[in-house]
Amino acid sequence: MSDKIKLIIEGTEYELPVIEGTEGEKAIDISKLRDLTGYITLDIGYKNTGATKSAITFLDGETGILHYRGYPIEQLAEKSNFLEVAYLLIYGELPTAEQFAKFENGIRRRTLVNEDMRKIFDGFPVNAHPMGVMAALASSLATFYPNAVDPRKDRDATDLRIYRLLAKMPTIAAWAYKNSHGHPLNYPKNKYNYCQNFLYMMYALPTEEYEPDPVVVDALDKLLILHADHEQNCSTSTIRLVGSSKVSLYSSISAAISSLWGPLHGGANQEVIEMLEQIKQDGGDVTKYLAKAKDKNDDFRLMGFGHRVYKNFDPRAKIIKVACDNVLNKLGINDPVLEIAKKLEEAALSDEYFVERKLYPNVDFYSGIIYRAIGIPVNMFTVMFALGRLPGWIAQWLEMRIEDQPIGRPRQIYTGATKRDYAPMETRK
Ligand code: CMC
Repeated sequence: MSDKIKLIIEGTEYELPVIEGTEGEKAIDISKLRDLTGYITLDIGYKNTGATKSAITFLDGETGILHYRGYPIEQLAEKSNFLEVAYLLIYGELPTAEQFAKFENGIRRRTLVNEDMRKIFDGFPVNAHPMGVMAALASSLATFYPNAVDPRKDRDATDLRIYRLLAKMPTIAAWAYKNSHGHPLNYPKNKYNYCQNFLYMMYALPTEEYEPDPVVVDALDKLLILHADHEQNCSTSTIRLVGSSKVSLYSSISAAISSLWGPLHGGANQEVIEMLEQIKQDGGDVTKYLAKAKDKNDDFRLMGFGHRVYKNFDPRAKIIKVACDNVLNKLGINDPVLEIAKKLEEAALSDEYFVERKLYPNVDFYSGIIYRAIGIPVNMFTVMFALGRLPGWIAQWLEMRIEDQPIGRPRQIYTGATKRDYAPMETRK
């Protein structure tokens, strides 16, 4: 392969370097393009633009491959646990027993949230969406723990911020849920592991004994692993862009949470279950909804279908589909919505419209059914995605800051009015 690409603009030939990743992905390095030629590139939605080099996650959308730091997602989902995967993503290697104990303990000891932060919950309306609460509370962490650290200069202080974030976000998420029910908040119990503690804070009532069900704990742990990173998607690009201004990690995470909330991104898992419920209530006719999704005059989209990069299958969806069957079997749940989901998937996968456009179920298609089976309410689905994605966001932020990448500042092609003179109001028509 050539290590240069020739570009001819207005008769002049330029040579641009070619970059190749460790998995053979190729890019034309255009970082000097404007200086050399006066031209910029235009790629709305960044469909062809590499915004960074990264050693964290490899994803091949054509063949349905997803690796975290080189490890296939299938192996991690089967053999690892969420905090080990978090360590791997953030620090680059699987931890030794000693490294893991330090990391886990650093998180376990910081699950408590400042009592003054608790008062912020009182200011939200009772029906506040927990994603809005999560974004606001993540941002407020920057006021309780001010001083943005420079990870190049102070790794210990950076680790402390990472521990705090991983420790406190589940507490904040569970409190957002409890608050929306007008129930007393549960304080974390540090005898529990990460997922047990979250479930305890979500479901324990002062009136009853509560012990987290191991089937539910395992299912939650697996779902968090599957969501832990996904290279340069909308919320990850957001954290890199926001963080490139050198604002604190907490503020950067808050921006990423807001970005994830949208229905085209993490918000899709909530939309999927609502769509499946709607189909069920409407008599379960999946062909009617396929027709709606194909109709260009109808805004309806098949939620949980299609992906910007996966054009064959989403490996996470494959794992979740199997996990979904397992969890429902183990818990003895017969959810009619799962049958509708399977019928819808089967019908879409043999429909020309979906085949032609390479639209397959994505991670969100079956995850909502498991969340529902393990008792997570629908408006908390995207919060679960956010909790899972925390290590990925942190890892991407850290990589960007350690490499001291420049502030993100894209250019544009201006299409507005050309220069014109101000006219006083009385002369305007
Ligand atoms: N239902 C019906 N048609 C669809 C769908 C869908 N879910 N997704 C894409 N299409 C059609 C779209 O109308 C377009 O058709 P045409 O070529 O005739 O104009 C074609 O497929 C290409 O779609 P696109 O919108 O240009 O593709 P994109 O890469 O910009 O969008 C997507 C990717 C995920 C936003 C989109 O597939 C979608 O809206 N899916 C539903 C929402 C969803 O499930 N989101 C979760 C994504 S996975 C979790 C995450 O990482 O956030």
